[in-house]
Amino acid sequence: MLTVRDLNDLRASIAGWRAEGARIALVPTMGALHAGHMALIEAARRPGTRVVASIFVNPKQFGPNEDLSRYPRREAADARMLNEAGCDLLWLPSVETMYPAGFATTISVAGVSDHFDGAARPGHFDGVATVVTKLFHQVAPDAAYFGEKDYQQLAVIRRFVADLNVPVEIVGVPTQREDDGLALSSRNIYLDETERARAVALPRALGVATRAIGRGEPVDSVLDDARRALEAAGFVIDYVALADAETLEPDPAPGRPRRLLAAARMGQTRLIDNVPVE
Ligand code: PAJ
Repeated sequence: MLTVRDLNDLRASIAGWRAEGARIALVPTMGALHAGHMALIEAARRPGTRVVASIFVNPKQFGPNEDLSRYPRREAADARMLNEAGCDLLWLPSVETMYPAGFATTISVAGVSDHFDGAARPGHFDGVATVVTKLFHQVAPDAAYFGEKDYQQLAVIRRFVADLNVPVEIVGVPTQREDDGLALSSRNIYLDETERARAVALPRALGVATRAIGRGEPVDSVLDDARRALEAAGFVIDYVALADAETLEPDPAPGRPRRLLAAARMGQTRLIDNVPVE
């Protein structure tokens, strides 16, 4: 695996692979890699494909009171994992490469960014859309892989890629979970033992709720039951909501695909999760 920190070197490597006829796949990350990220690398790997992973802890997607400074950074361990997973190139841009002095452009996606994490974390999806746009221009991949774990993020990316005719295929990868159902996340390491044990209430409540909604039980009372279960486990809830699976509008119209989404805090740690509704 090549490790590249300079944009000209990145472009030279990718141009070489393109000249050989390779397909280029991109897996953007913020590092502190776990089996969820590795599922994206695995999905991206195919004969004739060169897999590029990026690690960049993007300051523009963290709010002023969020965990930017304490976000886990483990470059050497991450590089080893990527190498073993068959990644071809690790792109490690500096903050100066991504946001040089005078940087003034923001990609802002209306509608799909308005609710849920967009409302709870003002500016977050602008930061995500801006950095992902830059990564697309730097790497110029044929396809890019994102986890359904960050479901609204995936919807925001699909929206601007369609709106701006970005020639990249966006592939969503199902959420990877611990044996008890907790979604893998770089932030799970913040949980102490008691919090970790209680956190399983989040996937459980979503599982119970999606089955009840699937059976046709009234959505409002199902969501109230889910909120009560989360609070009983010690969560402070940001939102538990049913949304249109494409537009991320709350209260989806009949017949539309639906997604059940939740964000809640366990102690200092904010966890998100989501499940489809059949
Ligand atoms: P990060 O949180 O590092 O996640 C990188 C990618 O891994 C995202 O597409 C995310 O959805 C996926 N992922 C994380 N946990 C997962 C899990 N348990 N199962 C499946 N996929 C999982 O998301 C970001 O970084 C950033 O916002 C980024 C897109 C890199 C832009 O800065």
